[in-house]
Amino acid sequence: MTRHLLDIEHLGQDDVTTLLTRAGELAAGAACGARVGAVANLFLEPSTRTRVSFQIAARRLGLDVVNIEQQYSSASKGESLIDTARTLAAMGVRAIVLRHPDNHAAADLASALTDGSVGIVNAGDGQHAHPSQALLDAATLAHAGFEWSGLKLAIIGDIRHSRVARSDIALLSRLGAAEIRIAGPEELMPDAGELPEAIRVPDIDTALDGVDAVICLRIQRERMAAGGYPDGAAFHARWGLTAERLAAMPDHSRFLHPGPVNRDVEIAEALVDSPRALILEQVRIGVHLRTALFEWLIDAD
Ligand code: CP
Repeated sequence: MTRHLLDIEHLGQDDVTTLLTRAGELAAGAACGARVGAVANLFLEPSTRTRVSFQIAARRLGLDVVNIEQQYSSASKGESLIDTARTLAAMGVRAIVLRHPDNHAAADLASALTDGSVGIVNAGDGQHAHPSQALLDAATLAHAGFEWSGLKLAIIGDIRHSRVARSDIALLSRLGAAEIRIAGPEELMPDAGELPEAIRVPDIDTALDGVDAVICLRIQRERMAAGGYPDGAAFHARWGLTAERLAAMPDHSRFLHPGPVNRDVEIAEALVDSPRALILEQVRIGVHLRTALFEWLIDAD
């Protein structure tokens, strides 16, 4: 049966456990056997870490990888996404890793491919979902020693436009995190009633009080009208992770960021490389998580 990874909500609990357990094993040095076939990275939005991470994960399993970007693909000549996907499937591609600017693009593509010829992995669609990021964030927190029950977590910044926040909240609340707080500028907060699993707090200091971990988010200017949220320095003063704010958090607490980081906006320049940062650990564990994801996807065929 062809599997897809579309969002956290469509992922079974057993599948979450399988993927996180396997990512943990791979991070601890477990070997992985070779698989046969090709996968395509179809990225219609910019990416560094997600695209390269999927590429390295696929190569680690012996899979061929093709990278397709908007400006060099026939999408720029008007080919529809479904026709591009069918073309890739006809060449034997077993999975398409899709990044797309539209909400639900991955689910729409999976539903249109009714013959089940190719698995679809959502590598970020609009502001809807980024499930592999959420899975790697959970794997990173688990690897750092955090347990779900009792875990207090804050997510700070541009929650409104963040597919990472939506997928993180869906996954971490399902895993049993004790408390998830969200905070950010009023205009960058989600609509009232959205994300009911998270507690809205009015300022960053309340959000960080006593938490085990904080996920800082980039201002997603590409999802705003021209002008958007104007001022990085003002954001940093009010919503940034500064040395003083980190010092006020519990000593064991850690901070994460899905990247790319804008230094001195979401996080103070001097903190980004501190031992309490899990940012590069997220990137490292991300390769293991995506390796586990390809195993899960390919072995289901
Ligand atoms: N976290 C993330 O999606 O980063 P990229 O945009 O570089 O892939």
